[in-house]
Amino acid sequence: MLGCFRRAFGAASGQRASTETNFFSRRVLHAKRRASGTLCVMTSVDSDVQANIDGYAKRTRRYDATHPDIFNSHEQARLAAAVGRAVDAITSGGSNALDFGCGTGNLTRHMRDLGLTVTCADVSPHFLQIVAERYEAPTIELAGGSTDAVADGAFDLIGVYSVLHHLPDYVASVGRLVSKLKPGGVLFIDHECNHTYWSPDRELAQFRQEMRAGQMQRFWCPDHKRWQRRLSPSHYRARYRRFRNINEEGDVHVYAHDHVDWETVIQVAVEASCELIERTDYLLFRAGGYDEAVWRKWNSRASDMGGVILRRT
Ligand SMILES: C[S@@+](CC[C@H](N)C(=O)[O-])C[C@H]1O[C@@H](n2cnc3c(N)ncnc32)[C@H](O)[C@@H]1O
Repeated sequence: MLGCFRRAFGAASGQRASTETNFFSRRVLHAKRRASGTLCVMTSVDSDVQANIDGYAKRTRRYDATHPDIFNSHEQARLAAAVGRAVDAITSGGSNALDFGCGTGNLTRHMRDLGLTVTCADVSPHFLQIVAERYEAPTIELAGGSTDAVADGAFDLIGVYSVLHHLPDYVASVGRLVSKLKPGGVLFIDHECNHTYWSPDRELAQFRQEMRAGQMQRFWCPDHKRWQRRLSPSHYRARYRRFRNINEEGDVHVYAHDHVDWETVIQVAVEASCELIERTDYLLFRAGGYDEAVWRKWNSRASDMGGVILRRT
């Protein structure tokens, strides 16, 4: 029981300003009666990790098909180029890579295409089974979200794509990931919303407006026409889930008041002996009804996502 408390508050100590505000509201301790009948206080760190595993359990096989925001040609081309730049930044001389929070192996594929030997790590045994089947890659199951099973100072490249917002204490995780790099190894973190997404500037607001206007003109556009949305069962399913606070994929830091803060990520990595090689903001092509012409027009002017390349000194 003490251990449970210690984990709850230990996890808090690494949190920085952006997540601190929400710590007590989100991290409400809740009691769970164990099979033995004793009362064990579960931290929400435990339940966040379990929510991720459960959330994806039924969706692992459909993951690629249900994420057009990741598996579309524009995003894949951008990602391939970004991974290429990350690989170019490696000075440790080896080719050992870790795909952290690997999912179905999106990054694994890009890193392998560039000649790296990739180990896949995830909390979800279901995803690990998929990458083992697809890539015959060695896997590490991150039991309870712990990185203890990942060797220190072992990797030339660690890729973390669309994962930070799932980690209960993403700030502390960044520091831990740096310790898994060799000196000269690179930490590549990508696909998290940037500050503009949360507080849109004029360009992003205009982009969103044009995108919406284009979509509204089409006869059938349930994303934006309320009466059409009301005809769809998924509308009522989504409302029910919101009402019951069911977060399907175990996202944690995806709210205006609690989101991944890039400045903090960079600061923590630098404090853990990294140098910043590149920081990129980009406008994600989200597919699924996106008007390509509008996206192209605003691609170089507006941004809603970010990525960084950091190197351990
Ligand atoms: C949005 S998916 C991204 C998957 C993959 N990186 C990609 O590019 O498609 C988030 C991934 O993070 C994993 N994840 C969730 N919580 C985690 C944790 N505490 N530690 C490591 N991975 C975690 C999930 O199981 C899932 O595979």
